[in-house]
Amino acid sequence: MSAKFAVHFIPVLVVVASAAAAAAGGNGDGQFTYQGFATANLTLDGLAAVTANGLLALTNATYQAKAHAFHPAPLRFLGETAAAANASAAVARSFSTSFVFAIVSGYDGLSDHGLAFMVAPTANLSTANAGQYLGLLNATSGAASGGASILAVELDTIMNPEFRDISSNHVGVDVNSLVSMQAQPAGYYGDGDGAFRELRLNSRKPMQVWVDYDDEAKQINVTLSPVKVSKPKKPLISQAIDLSTVMAEEMYVGFSSATGVVFTHHYVLGWSFSFDGPAPPLDISKLPVLPRVGPKPRSKVLDIVLPLATALLVAAAVAAVFFAVWRRRRFAEVREDWEDEFGPHRFAYKDLFRATDGFKERNLLGVGGFGRVYRGVLPESNLEIAVKRVSHDSRQGIREFVAEVVSIGRLRHRNLVQLLGYCRRKDELLLVYDYMANGSLDKYLYERNSTTTLHWAERLWIIKGVASGLLYLHEDWEQVVIHRDIKASNVLLDSAMKGRLGDFGLARLYDHGTDPQTTHVVGTMGYLAPELVRTGKATPLTDVFAFGVFLLEVTCGRRPIETDNDNKRVVLVDWVLEHHRNGSIFGAADPRLMGKFDAEEVSLILKLGLMCSHPLPRARPSMRKVMQYLEHGRQPAPDLSPSYVSYSMMAIMQSEGFDSYVMSEPQSTMGINTVSVGASSMTILSEGR
Ligand SMILES: *[C@@H]1O[C@H](CO)[C@@H](O)[C@H](O)[C@H]1NC(C)=O
Ligand SMILES: *[C@@H]1O[C@H](CO)[C@@H](O)[C@H](O)[C@H]1NC(C)=O
Ligand SMILES: *[C@@H]1O[C@H](CO)[C@@H](O)[C@H](O)[C@H]1NC(C)=O
Ligand SMILES: *[C@@H]1O[C@H](CO)[C@@H](O)[C@H](O)[C@H]1NC(C)=O
Ligand SMILES: *[C@@H]1O[C@H](CO)[C@@H](O)[C@H](O)[C@H]1NC(C)=O
Ligand SMILES: *[C@@H]1O[C@H](CO)[C@@H](O)[C@H](O)[C@H]1NC(C)=O
Repeated sequence: MSAKFAVHFIPVLVVVASAAAAAAGGNGDGQFTYQGFATANLTLDGLAAVTANGLLALTNATYQAKAHAFHPAPLRFLGETAAAANASAAVARSFSTSFVFAIVSGYDGLSDHGLAFMVAPTANLSTANAGQYLGLLNATSGAASGGASILAVELDTIMNPEFRDISSNHVGVDVNSLVSMQAQPAGYYGDGDGAFRELRLNSRKPMQVWVDYDDEAKQINVTLSPVKVSKPKKPLISQAIDLSTVMAEEMYVGFSSATGVVFTHHYVLGWSFSFDGPAPPLDISKLPVLPRVGPKPRSKVLDIVLPLATALLVAAAVAAVFFAVWRRRRFAEVREDWEDEFGPHRFAYKDLFRATDGFKERNLLGVGGFGRVYRGVLPESNLEIAVKRVSHDSRQGIREFVAEVVSIGRLRHRNLVQLLGYCRRKDELLLVYDYMANGSLDKYLYERNSTTTLHWAERLWIIKGVASGLLYLHEDWEQVVIHRDIKASNVLLDSAMKGRLGDFGLARLYDHGTDPQTTHVVGTMGYLAPELVRTGKATPLTDVFAFGVFLLEVTCGRRPIETDNDNKRVVLVDWVLEHHRNGSIFGAADPRLMGKFDAEEVSLILKLGLMCSHPLPRARPSMRKVMQYLEHGRQPAPDLSPSYVSYSMMAIMQSEGFDSYVMSEPQSTMGINTVSVGASSMTILSEGR
């Protein structure tokens, strides 16, 4: 009853036990699977260790040492039935094994001795040698002792001539000797084309190996492939061998490795084994991960830095776009087709912006009726420039004006401030001039605390220079250019204290673009010729009038119109005339000269000034005539005709305002427009300083 019961249940128990063994990697029927070795119970010796994440690390950075890892229990390799019938005729069983390994060298491309899968009669390999012996054998072990030998599949990464190795990267089948029965260069045959593809064993990448023994064909096959490639159909090595003569009844299976002198890790990631059938497949995705190679912190940094850098890059790109748009707006210019012909005279706003440090206040040279003037240095040429920002709100006439600016740019005279070019923006025009190191003349004339009072010789030199410049404008250039705004503040002094006339023609900007029916009078109070006020028509002689006032201004050190202590307006021309009538014309000379001057020269200049500022245009000399007086300084001073009564009329005009004057001149032809429109439309621009 009990025997019957037992017979009935034995097969069930066997099935259960074998299933449990397989699952746990046990040894029930000699079949096992290790997806990583964390829970495995391997027998380790030497350097071998299992890492925390389940890698079997056969070697570490210890030199000339060996390592072994065995499946804990021995397996029965010889057929039981055959052994029972005739022990000497026992047949080795078919088996298959598969494992994934990686050789990771501290120096890429350079590696130590390799590793081997082995089937050994004993798990005690204490007498084996390290180094090229791979921990399998020693120098004297050779001849098989009693039939039980070591079968090994070596993955060798060093070429040892003593073992007749074929290369430093080969796979071999060894039986009790490190001289392989057969060795092949590491690689595999592609299933598709059958072509051989070489693999580098020490590439630091995991690779899979299959070892299959067929007891009927008496053949052992070794196949190698990268982990991403499934088992190739054609094995790398197919070697005829009858393992019946090699195997003992029970054999240990495992791995062996040894180090020499190069720091190398030999890892096994997973392993499966089976008798009489293919080895259970390994799930590559479940195998433990190899440690990172190379300096760890760097790769970690890369992990963090890469996404961060990407984010930064995107942010930078967005910022760059915003900046480009902002910059486009900030440096926006107005440029029209017709300006193409003026190309060379056109400056980029960006350059002017850079030159003046963004029109910073500290670069401001002065503020005038026409705009603000900034000092700057052109980025490329290092040329010092003065940039005048002139606002204009009328588009009308700008074309003519720019054409004029460009033609003015062609004027070349040592006593003119060179206009270098222009730039145009919305509602704004920028004129670029040579920089005049010593600023404007009026500063030297009127700053009472100025220690830089000009000597008479200097003043005369400046006067001659301005006269020469004005003559060039009026007569010596291809066109007649009327300055329209001659005055001390428009005379600039260069680094050599030479007088140069600036701002010529600029007054026309306010002439252009206004209602052509009315002509605005442009100029500065005190310098305006009577007929200019009346007719609004600028001529070379209206310039001469202003030049005359300028002569008196420089000689007397007084403004054209001053307010005296009794709050009464004093017109300079009248004041000098009075001195002249009283026979004391020298009394009009600037007291700061302290009498140090040539009396004849001062007399000449003052008389010339009066003559030029004559109220009647036809009584004024031309600039050429003026030049003659100046050049022959000692020739008799011009004789003043007795028509000076008219000066008082001008005095009335300039002291009591224009309204009464204009109204009292109904006979003037051009003046009618002005009168009909009324005084309110008349714009008198003055520098206001
Ligand atoms: C290598 O492994 C052996 C055995 O586990 C250990 O004693 C030795 O300290 C290890 N050496 C290094 C450098 O990790
Ligand atoms: C591991 O194997 C050894 C010997 O093979 C055995 O004594 C031990 O009990 C095993 N341990 C486990 C946890 O299986
Ligand atoms: C065992 O096999 C050998 C040869 O392989 C043979 O000589 C011998 O007779 C056999 N013995 C038995 C009991 O079959
Ligand atoms: C291994 O074999 C040697 C002799 O060859 C012996 O001294 C040693 O104790 C053995 N080791 C084990 C763990 O059995
Ligand atoms: C070499 O190994 C064999 C076993 O394979 C052992 O009998 C012999 O003593 C070893 N020789 C040395 C020098 O360790
Ligand atoms: C070994 O490879 C050969 C082809 O080279 C093949 O015919 C044979 O079936 C293979 N044996 C095993 C056990 O895979």
